[in-house]
Amino acid sequence: MSTGKKVLIGIVVLLVIIQFIRPERNIHPEPQPNDIFVKYAASDSVKAIMKRACYDCHSNNTRYPWYTNIQPIGFWMEHHVDEGKSKINYSEFLTYTPKKAAHKLEESVDLVKKKEMPLDSYTWIHKDAVLSDNQRALISAWADSLKNQIRP
Ligand code: HEC
Repeated sequence: MSTGKKVLIGIVVLLVIIQFIRPERNIHPEPQPNDIFVKYAASDSVKAIMKRACYDCHSNNTRYPWYTNIQPIGFWMEHHVDEGKSKINYSEFLTYTPKKAAHKLEESVDLVKKKEMPLDSYTWIHKDAVLSDNQRALISAWADSLKNQIRP
C-alpha cells in the first residue's frame, strides 16, 4: 500500500474514532434566575436578537443544530462556548458587581458595533445569527442605555 493511502486510511479511522467522544453539553433548566432579562427590560426584538446571535456562546443554554453532533465541529463549538461564557455569561449577569456589569455592557456595545461579535467563524455556519446594521444598532443602543443605568 502506498504511503498516501495509509495516511488517508489513518485519517478516516481517526475521524470515525472521534465521533464517539461527546463533549458535555451546555444545557441548563430555563428560566435562569440570574439572567440579564429577568431584571432588566428589553424589547422583544432585542431579546430575540441576543438569544439568536449571542446566547449560544454567552449563556447557560446553547442550541445544538444537528451538525454539532459531528466531530470535530462539536469540539470546536464546545471550545467557543467555554471561552465565551468565561468572558461574559448573560445567564449569570445579575451576579456581577455593578462595576463589572457596566464594563461588560460597554464591551458588548463596542464589539457589536465593530462587528467582532458574533464571531465570523460562527455566523459562517449559523446563518440565522448574521446581524443587519439595524439589528446591531438596536442591541447596542439597548446595551448602552442599560450600561448608563447600572454604572455605579
Ligand atoms: C461562537 C461563539 C460566540 C458568539 C455567538 C458570540 N460570542 Fe462574544 N465571545 C466569544 C468568545 C470566544 C470570546 C472571547 C474571545 C474574544 O474576545 O474574541 C467572546 C468575547 C466577547 C466579549 C468580551 C468580553 C470581555 O470582557 O472580554 C463580549 C462583550 C462579547 N463577546 C459579546 C457578544 C455579543 C453581544 C454577542 C452577540 C451579538 C456575541 N458575543 C456572540 C464567542 C462568541
